[in-house]
Amino acid sequence: MRKLNSSHIDSPSNQVQRNAYDVKKQAAESFRSIKGTFDVLPTASSADGRAIAGSAAWRHVERTVVDVLGRYGAREIRTPILEPTALIARGIGQLTDIVSKEMFAFEREDTHYVLRPEVTAPVMRAYLQHHLDQERSVQKLFYIGPCFRAERPQKGRYRQFHQFGVEYIGTDTVRADAEVITMMVDVYHALGIDDLRLRVNTLGDENARPAFKEALQSYLRPFADDLSETSRRRLDENPLRILDTKNPRERELLEEAPSLINFVSTESRDRYDALLEMLDGVGIRYIEDPFLVRGLDYYTETAFELESDLLDSAQSALAGGGRYDLLASEIGAKNPTPAVGFAAGIERLFLALESAGKIPVTDERPDIFVVLVDNEGDAWATSFAHQLRAAGVSCEIDLSGRSVKAQMREANRVGAKHVIVVGETERASGSAKLKNMADGTERDVSLSADEIRLLCIPD
Ligand code: HAM
Repeated sequence: MRKLNSSHIDSPSNQVQRNAYDVKKQAAESFRSIKGTFDVLPTASSADGRAIAGSAAWRHVERTVVDVLGRYGAREIRTPILEPTALIARGIGQLTDIVSKEMFAFEREDTHYVLRPEVTAPVMRAYLQHHLDQERSVQKLFYIGPCFRAERPQKGRYRQFHQFGVEYIGTDTVRADAEVITMMVDVYHALGIDDLRLRVNTLGDENARPAFKEALQSYLRPFADDLSETSRRRLDENPLRILDTKNPRERELLEEAPSLINFVSTESRDRYDALLEMLDGVGIRYIEDPFLVRGLDYYTETAFELESDLLDSAQSALAGGGRYDLLASEIGAKNPTPAVGFAAGIERLFLALESAGKIPVTDERPDIFVVLVDNEGDAWATSFAHQLRAAGVSCEIDLSGRSVKAQMREANRVGAKHVIVVGETERASGSAKLKNMADGTERDVSLSADEIRLLCIPD
């Protein structure tokens, strides 16, 4: 295994020194979130000039993901943010951009940690560690959570970002590949995004790639001087990644390059054709893209990416995935463990929702605001509000000792659907006026949580 670049590893004594420095330097400044990360606030906000949806919109998206994936029988798995560095390096591949330059990795007491840059390798680790094959022969596992990559932050590309994804482990059927793709597309449709472009390719089995790699190297070597510095470096180490290039001269060169499809076995070709037939069957349109190779080394056979014109062309990938039949053995499995999955970027999904004008709006207004005329009834008010909440009514009361007028203004500001004003007289009589803020009508109600619930939340 190649040794990790030492610049990624921080010794504890370095950390202590730097922490002391940071604290001193920052003491006089106000703290801000780290570049490439952002806060999700109760309402929409902006970070580095980008719009960040509010937390209710995030919850709506997450709920939709859970609903759609749940319909396929996928069950949630949660793995730690911290993983052993070697798992990620072996799983994703030492020569990938992610492992060679984008990991947030550090060392503490002889253990090498990495903030997970993706979730497929961690899910496979958990599957093997907990012998999940013994629980079900095919595991369909989904996740939603943060990932970390030290990329140059820009629109649609962050250092802490969030993925949802699915891993089907223990199945080598083409039907599984098709299901993973259809469930991915279903999530976008459920959120109102139809402007989608699916690119698919087959990478063949483990025998196809070495022969293709050699053929591609032989073809490109005479043109080495025409290649960009990055591609020249990749030519020796990881030539398949050159296929991803956006450089016009390189794209032109690649038009005449050997094609991967000519190196795959008949069986791989048949699998690929069967997948395309299934996609046709469910009406998912696709583009066959022989240049699609993906940026992680664990893929074999099917590879795909989902794009949208709703995103800027630089970061147009909403989601991506494919089959990774060899990952399990790469990280220590004794038995063959075929698998296929996808992951999607939630921030990019929000960018697409924003351009489509479909950011979900969630009603977070309280059902009732209890306006208090005096402070004498504090214990009563606390108990009354508690009873309302226990009955299922969302209820707010004044927490700042404000005047009745100021409380009414606050009730308006939070968009309360009803207001009830309670003072000594109301407490004594056990009844008060309930005002419907939408139409301004008032009615007498008893101060009973059940009665108020019926009026505030009609079935
Ligand atoms: P990936 O293509 O590296 O694949 O990432 C999946 C998605 O995560 C991308 O399409 C993009 O939407 C989002 N993404 C990646 N990096 C960033 C970033 N820096 N900022 C914002 N969004 C980002 C994987 O991670 C594989 N684990 C997918 C997979 C699952 N393959 C099989 N199973």
